[in-house]
Parts: sequence; structure tokens; C-alpha cells
Amino acid sequence: MKQYKRHLITAALPYANGPIHIGHLAGVYVPADIYARYLRLRGEEVIWVCGSDEHGVPITIKARNEGVSPQDVVDRYHAIIKHSFEQFGMSMDIYSRTTSAVHRETASDFFRTLYDRGEFIEHTSKHYFDPEAGIFLADRYIVGKCPRCGAEGAYGDQCERCGSSLAATELIDPKSALTGSELELRDTLHWYLPLDRHEAFLKQWILEEHREWKGNVYGQCKSWLDGGLQPRAVSRDLDWGIPVPVEGAEGKVLYVWFDAPIGYISATKELTRDWERWWKSDDTRMVHFIGKDNIVFHCIMFPAMLKAHGGYVLPDNVPANEFLNLEGDKISTSRNHAVWLNEYLEDFPGKQDVLRYVLCANAPETKDNDFTWRDFQARANNELVAVLGNFVNRVMVLTGKYYDGVVPERGGMTDYDGTVLEELSSLRPTIERNIERFQFREALKGVMEIARLGNKYLADTEPWKVVKTDPARVQTIMNIAVQIVANLAIACEPFMPFTAAKIGAMLQAAPAWDSLGGDSIIPAGHKVGTPELLFERVEDAEVERQIEKLKK
Ligand code: MF3
Ligand code: ZN
Repeated sequence: MKQYKRHLITAALPYANGPIHIGHLAGVYVPADIYARYLRLRGEEVIWVCGSDEHGVPITIKARNEGVSPQDVVDRYHAIIKHSFEQFGMSMDIYSRTTSAVHRETASDFFRTLYDRGEFIEHTSKHYFDPEAGIFLADRYIVGKCPRCGAEGAYGDQCERCGSSLAATELIDPKSALTGSELELRDTLHWYLPLDRHEAFLKQWILEEHREWKGNVYGQCKSWLDGGLQPRAVSRDLDWGIPVPVEGAEGKVLYVWFDAPIGYISATKELTRDWERWWKSDDTRMVHFIGKDNIVFHCIMFPAMLKAHGGYVLPDNVPANEFLNLEGDKISTSRNHAVWLNEYLEDFPGKQDVLRYVLCANAPETKDNDFTWRDFQARANNELVAVLGNFVNRVMVLTGKYYDGVVPERGGMTDYDGTVLEELSSLRPTIERNIERFQFREALKGVMEIARLGNKYLADTEPWKVVKTDPARVQTIMNIAVQIVANLAIACEPFMPFTAAKIGAMLQAAPAWDSLGGDSIIPAGHKVGTPELLFERVEDAEVERQIEKLKK
């Protein structure tokens, strides 16, 4: 294992053609945030870069449909997405965008370097041209009859009826989805990254040197590599994007999947002048958080680009998640089957941590998972309210009532006290190990174990009864209970930062991660603040309203 000095964390740049939904949050951003927060708490040097992915065909189509410019579209959604991330406590060090000047120059230079080195192949082929719109069409915007099953309305890349993937030139009687007009096949020149040239390197690097990657990620890479890699076009005929920086390339832009990952580099440049230390030192550990549809781009294409360029670090890990479904059905933007973060914030103000909790507890780490509003309600009420909130509240209320908020001295400890404290300290390595292995669901279970342990301790020792007969014993019990609350303040921070801050405020303390597992975090004599409820129940009517909303 290499000795790493710093961690460069990236999270997939969301397309700025719509707001983001719970699937994005569960698959990519909540895990990335937990990981980044954890490493910072451990005292590691970390940056987390992200931003909006503002190029690509769908943005141009949306703009055309709305009669506005693509820039208007991305300006609008960039602002919405950025705001949602802030509201959900995403601790990115920078949230940039790929229409920035720094990015345009960085991506352009990157392309030019590969071009000058002869790392591309130039190739002319025939593509469909819409004479009415005056543009070459992306495969998805060509419709026609499926050559396999005969269905009308098949797309240039896929027939939704029979599921076959298609080449646009196979469609029978193809038409433009934009204008409905007949199409012409025209010659067009493009630049290709010959992934086949990098195949041997990629096989060695991934299949041999990164056997520790998650099974879903390793498996997808293996099947791509076993199938043999093909040259991949890195330019498109489009008027929205970064111009191909080569003479005679008018009307051609960089393919969005070429420029977007370079956005991680540009964002770092915007964040710090010291960006090369992050990208060009062997002792940087880069980790890409993504969804499973992004695996090939982050494990094969971007590494091949970085390798071809030379001088850059490659990812040490790519912990991709599977997909989150919603009420038993795929999340779909076009059918509006989604829970949008901006709407959640309106419907459940102040409940960001509840969603963070549910999405982490039910994250699609190894397989697709389902989000249901009933499960959301059950976890909120039975876990957050009944276990975590209840424990912290009881301790704070009793400390206020018996000692006016001043943490009592601990007297002699029973064997049982010792066992509880031992169990408490044993949870720390479990939580840490799980976070380090990207097993955030398990890690979060460990955090909740602290609260369960606390509740059980109170139920078993019954300070509210013993106080009448043995007040000295209750001092010990309450001191220990306060230490357990302090442990929760620490352990919650990567997962539920707002809750961690509230517990810290109640304790009037900001204990460091280093003291996690400890039994003397808050000294006797320290005065804590006033109790405040951490979570409210989610009522039937609230979830019924959400379920109704999805049916519409
Ligand atoms: N916008 C892409 C998506 O949402 C992700 C781009 S990730 C990057 O699937 F690496 F290209 F930035
Ligand atoms: Zn078909």
C-alpha cells in the first residue's frame, strides 16, 4: 500500500438540465460527503471538488424546446443544484461549472496536448444531418422503424419496444425528432481516442492492481476489457460545447464526456493555485464517487485520457453505487417520477438530516434499492425519533433536572458500567473500518448502536428510580450517559452534520473525532445547555401527500 499524503475526492458533475433528485443524493453525494467529512475529522488533508456538467445534447434540446439559449438553461439549473447541495450540507470545497473560462481553457489545452502527441485518430464517417435544423443529429434525436421488431418510434441508439441497441443507420425510414424532416447522410470528420492502445495498460492497472475495487465496479470493468476496447469519438457536430481546438474544426465541439471529467481538474484550479500538488503528485490519493452508469467513463476513458496526457494521478478507487428506485419503479425525469431535492426542502423544511439518514441507511451500495415513503416514515419515527432523539433528550432533560445541567462526578463503577463503556469504545473501529471500505450503511448502523447502547443503559440502570434511594449512584449513571451523548455528537457528524451540531450545542462542547470511543469526553463540572428536540415524528398525512404527488 502506497503512503498517501492527501485525498482528492470527486463526485460526478451533475448535468445542469434539471434539478437533482434523491437518486443522485443516495448514489453519489451523500457517500462522498460522509467520506470527505470523515477524512477531515481524522485530520487528513482533503479536498472535494464538484460542479455542474453544462454541455451535451440534452441541454441544447431543452433550450430549443423552451425557446431560450443553452446558457440560460444551465444558469438556471446550476443555481438550483448548487443551492440544494448547500442546503443538504454537502461539504464540497468548490462547486464549479463547465462553462467557466478556466474550464474551457483547461479542457481545450488537454485536447490540444493529446492532439499534438498524436494520441488521436482522425476518421470520417457518415452521419445523419437534419437539413431543416441545419445540424448533425445525435443518435437519440433520430427516430424511425426498428429493424429488429418493426416498432415505430425507435431511437437512433435504441428501440424501447424490444430493447435492442441500434446504430442510427440501421433505422428504417429515419426522421429528425426535432423537426420531423427527412435526413441526409453526410460525411463528417471526428477525432477518436484509440482506447484499444491503452487496453494492455488498463487490464494490468485495473484487473491486476485494483482487485480491491467494489465487485460491481470491478465486474463492469472486466466485462468491458474482456470484450476488447474500441476507439471512441471525442468530438461532436454541435454548436454548444468547447470548440475543438484544431484548424478546420468549425462547428465541432469536444464530446461532453471528454470535457466533463476534466472539470475535476479545472475545479481544483479554481479552488487553489496549488492545484498541481493535488493532480501531479504520486502521493495524492484520488477517489471518484459516481453512479453505475458512469463507471466506464471514470474507470476506462478518463484514466486513458490522463495516461495519454501523462503526469496526472489516476484514481485509487471508484466506489460507484447502483441505482435507487422510487416506490418500486425506476426514477424517471421525463415521467416526473422522482423526489426532487428542491421540493423536499419545501415540503420538509429543516429535515435534511432525516433524508440523509434514510438515503444512507438504504443506500444502493451493492444492488439497486427501493426508496418508499413508508420506509422513510418508519426510519424517521422508529430510528431517529425513538432511538437517537429519545436517548439524547432523556439524558439532557435528566441532567438539567437533577444537576441544573452541571455534569456530575463519577463515583465507583459497577461491572455493568465497565461493560457498557467497553462496548462503546469497541464501536469506533467498526465505524471507521466501514467508512474506509465505503460501507456507509454498516458504518451508520454502528452509529445507531451507540444510541441503542445508551437507551439500553438508561433502561437497565433506571436513574429516575434509583435517584430516590441512591443519588450517588445516579451521578455515575448520568456522567456515563453524558459521555455516550458526546460520542454521538462526534459519530453523527459525517452522516448527519446538522444533528451533530445540535447535539454539540446542547452539550456546549465540540468534541474531536480523536476522542470517539472515550469515556471521559465531557469533564465533571462542565455545564451543558438546554435540551432541544432533535427530530419530529413524520405523520401519516405527510407521507400520504407525497405518495399522492407521485401518482399525479
Ligand atoms: N453529468 C454526468 C451524469 O450525470 C456525470 C459527469 S461526471 C464527469 O451522468 F466526470 F464527467 F464529470
Ligand atoms: Zn425494436
